[in-house]
Amino acid sequence: MKSNTEKFGKTPHQPSLWTRADALKVQADDPTTTQPLVSADFPVLSNEVFIWDTMPLRDLDGNITSVDGWSVIFTLTADRHPNDPQYIDENGNYDITRDWNDRHGRAKMYYWFSRTGKDWELGGRVMAEGVSPTVREWAGTPILLNEQGEVDLYYTAVTPGATIVKVRGRVVTTEHGVSMVGFEKVKPLFEADGKMYQTEAQNPFWGFRDPWPFRDPNDGKLYMLFEGNVAGERGSHTVGEAEIGDVPPGYEDVGNSRFQTACVGIAVARDEDGDDWEMLPPLLTAVGVNDQTERPHFVFQDGKYYLFTISHTFTYADGVTGPDGVYGFVADSLFGPYVPLNGSGLVLGNPSSQPFQTYSHCVMPNGLVTSFIDSVPTDESGTQIRIGGTEAPTVGIRIKGQQTFVVAEYDYGYIPPMLDVTLK
Ligand code: FRU
Repeated sequence: MKSNTEKFGKTPHQPSLWTRADALKVQADDPTTTQPLVSADFPVLSNEVFIWDTMPLRDLDGNITSVDGWSVIFTLTADRHPNDPQYIDENGNYDITRDWNDRHGRAKMYYWFSRTGKDWELGGRVMAEGVSPTVREWAGTPILLNEQGEVDLYYTAVTPGATIVKVRGRVVTTEHGVSMVGFEKVKPLFEADGKMYQTEAQNPFWGFRDPWPFRDPNDGKLYMLFEGNVAGERGSHTVGEAEIGDVPPGYEDVGNSRFQTACVGIAVARDEDGDDWEMLPPLLTAVGVNDQTERPHFVFQDGKYYLFTISHTFTYADGVTGPDGVYGFVADSLFGPYVPLNGSGLVLGNPSSQPFQTYSHCVMPNGLVTSFIDSVPTDESGTQIRIGGTEAPTVGIRIKGQQTFVVAEYDYGYIPPMLDVTLK
């Protein structure tokens, strides 16, 4: 049987490994890597819709960009159903928890705009019903291409399958607001190949999604990060010395951790427009550690590559654990080797008293971290919860060498622009 890394051959690079030894260093509730408590009396963006993954409009270099003074975010969005008999429980009450938990199956891409970088106004759906080829419109990245306001929205078309796609449209502004026009033709880009990246046929619980295109600050080429799992039939992966790392005596048993096979994928564009892509071996693998490294993204700072990705407690392998939140790795060059930030990888996790308070963190180049509120306990025991489906307070972190520190907290959904583009 081939080891996990032998699958990727000798060129052009070997994936870096997030090892079990690294993950053993994860410390929940370390104040420098823990998100401040979110209060249960948070405001909600909308009583009509739930929102979760938030995707600020940006350029290919990663800068959060406003247009004509308007900030724009895209969100995964689903209707709330307070009056739908399907979500009324036996006591006649709205079962918001069930409605929220079902949201992934009806996720659609919406956009919002704001003059202040917060207090978002609902713009509407990006694509009309019927434009996207599958049921679910899952996460991705909106890229402002030029001063004409052209926008490439990269996202994941899910069910059936999971295909990384893009759709081009345009952002139009007036004194009163913003609209997204012309997002009418969705172009499929690629799907998992079964050789480097696991397919649905190899594992019904596979992940292949969340494109994040970028221009490499050093070689100037167009690349894309995405979430994947390492190819191979479910259960066939090996958790050997490389995946385990240097563990203390008594920590050699890997249990059933061969089922956890997350990786951060990368592809390179063969053309300037990003219509033709070639998948490359993953930048990072987490075989034996964790099954999901979602929404991978970069911050380019101090000549280094800071790679961030979100993950969950429930996706950790046997014998290792950590909070829901954002994890990070740093390298001196795009293809690594990557080492975990703070030794463990943990950058910003939920406090253990509120393990599901936030998720889907996006670290922006200005050190601000946006996320959404999932659920916050409303009583001491944590049995009563309030569902969010709205923007969480933004957190400020400082990134220094191989370490990060929580340093600030801002308003709910605060996503200020880093540059403004005046449209022609
Ligand atoms: C993260 C995530 C993404 C996916 C979406 C589905 O919160 O799991 O990876 O695109 O949510 O709703």
